Amino acid sequence: MFYQSVVRPLLFRWDPENVHHFTMALLQNPLLAALATLGSTIQNSSLRRTIFGIDFPNPVGLAAGFDKNALLLPVWEKFGFGHAEIGTVTLHGQEGNPKPRIFRIPEAQAIINRMGFPNEGADRIAQRLEGYKSNGNWPKIPVGINIGKSKVTPLEEAPGDYLGSFQRLERYADYVAINVSSPNTPGLRSLQTKESLSRILEPIQKANSRTLPILVKIAPDLSAEEIDVVLETMEQFHCAGIIATNTTLDKSSVPLKEEGGLSGAPVREKSTAIIRSIAQKTGGRFPIIGVGGIQFPEEAQEKLAAGASLVQLYTGFIYQGPHSVKRILTQL
Ligand SMILES: Cc1cc2nc3c(=O)[nH]c(=O)nc-3n(C[C@H](O)[C@H](O)[C@H](O)COP(=O)(O)O)c2cc1C
Repeated sequence: MFYQSVVRPLLFRWDPENVHHFTMALLQNPLLAALATLGSTIQNSSLRRTIFGIDFPNPVGLAAGFDKNALLLPVWEKFGFGHAEIGTVTLHGQEGNPKPRIFRIPEAQAIINRMGFPNEGADRIAQRLEGYKSNGNWPKIPVGINIGKSKVTPLEEAPGDYLGSFQRLERYADYVAINVSSPNTPGLRSLQTKESLSRILEPIQKANSRTLPILVKIAPDLSAEEIDVVLETMEQFHCAGIIATNTTLDKSSVPLKEEGGLSGAPVREKSTAIIRSIAQKTGGRFPIIGVGGIQFPEEAQEKLAAGASLVQLYTGFIYQGPHSVKRILTQL
């Protein structure tokens, strides 16, 4: 409650992206990280699960986008997360879209963002990950690496761009998520068609010597037919699972109409409906990571009941604070 009544009102006075960088910088200090996460973890063997061959200490993970450059990779488990998905990483380092590019909508417990994948690029991030391995700071929780297309790479050359990131980063990942669903890189969502997705997945699976689980992250705005095509393509290329969903372009339920993707409470039902329909269609063949609008324990439970094997949160973590993961896990 301290977070909601004192910390959040203070943080929400500032520009959202500045707050993000400020808190990320504070948390890189081990003492401050220890203080901020005090009492946040929970160990209970009943929360463990093995999904696509990986052991997760609990089903609640950090969604992609929060730690694009893996700056806090050793810290996320201290917040109680059972896995962390870093990225989106692109082959070439890039600045992303002009600022401002994150907008809060507190009355709707939502965010609109049009970040456009600002990140240091696959080589630099691989070096950072190597550093964590070599100096003993590698986390105990599984690490997902989410990869996307660099803005400078034309859409028709997307397969080589994804493959380049995959080759540089695969050795650090417990799973790799192929992001074809961000609304903020022009044309990226068009890569969710059968032909485009096949051209990306085929070379990645050829290069995938460790048979690392490959997941595809989809948009909540796909039609049922489009989802069927994604599932068919994933099956053809032996993907391990699906992440549903990214942010939505549908802003009909919120007063702010900034360009970008909407996340948080307004996307919750849409994302849960997609999870339910995928689970019914596939009969559990594809484990699902459910993400979209989870803030409270019942909402995580709702996604798991709909057929998700794991869940993730981003916006809910901002609105509900550092103890939100523990609150969810306690109820689960
Ligand atoms: C500011 C912001 C940046 C994001 N960046 C990424 C990203 O780089 N890659 C990605 O796959 N998803 C990204 N997402 C989407 C989240 O991972 C998640 O799929 C979406 O926000 C729905 O979950 P939520 O309602 O819990 O936030 C971003 C979301 C936000 C709010």
